[in-house]
Amino acid sequence: MNKATNDMRYLTFALCKGRLANKTLELLEQIGITCEEMKDPSSRKLIFINEELKLKFFLAKGPDVPTYVEYGAADIGVVGKDIIMEENRKVYEVFDFGFGKCRMCVCGPATAKDLLQRHDMIRVASKYPKIAKDYFYNRKHQTVDIIKLNGSVELGPIVGLSDVIVDIVETGSTLRENGLDVLEEICPLSARMIVNQVSMKMEADRIQRLLQSLKEENREK
Ligand code: PRP
Repeated sequence: MNKATNDMRYLTFALCKGRLANKTLELLEQIGITCEEMKDPSSRKLIFINEELKLKFFLAKGPDVPTYVEYGAADIGVVGKDIIMEENRKVYEVFDFGFGKCRMCVCGPATAKDLLQRHDMIRVASKYPKIAKDYFYNRKHQTVDIIKLNGSVELGPIVGLSDVIVDIVETGSTLRENGLDVLEEICPLSARMIVNQVSMKMEADRIQRLLQSLKEENREK
């Protein structure tokens, strides 16, 4: 990245807390964007600044990342495609990082396969009610009862709350250990870069240069 000039405004990144943020920071470092301050695990600071490149970074809960980007509190966000789909904010999705790969699936006991094929009125538990609704209503044209959960969604069919779940499958081990299967695949997921719609125009040069560097770095791998 080129050194910034003094009259430049800060370009602000909102990163999804956790593994995705660490992977993103590693990749940014490879293209010359570092933020030393952020590496201190004991720090309670919420916002980190790279003065030289005029960049700011902050960590946020996944579902809040598209919100910060839509409202322009962050120019750029890095977050999973699952969250982008669920939040459905007015942002541009511009880059697929290719890490954080997993799948959004309908899962349940093998016996639930028949219920899906017959288009029965079933109960679907999910942390992603909008994705579940869109899949069943608009793609499958099946009326279902969607129940929002906040985690450990696999419990749904096990304790009799729901017939199936709509959830993320990465290695598949949570399903296996709980006697559940993937019954239908909704879509592949991975970490994506999103950009505020105004920033995309006002900061076009800097954002395009950043995208170019990321693409080149990913190609070299
Ligand atoms: C996610 C997801 C599955 C699990 C899938 O849960 O909801 O439960 O990971 O991964 P696997 O296929 O590799 O087993 P997470 O760990 O985010 O916790 P949560 O259940 O509280 O949402």
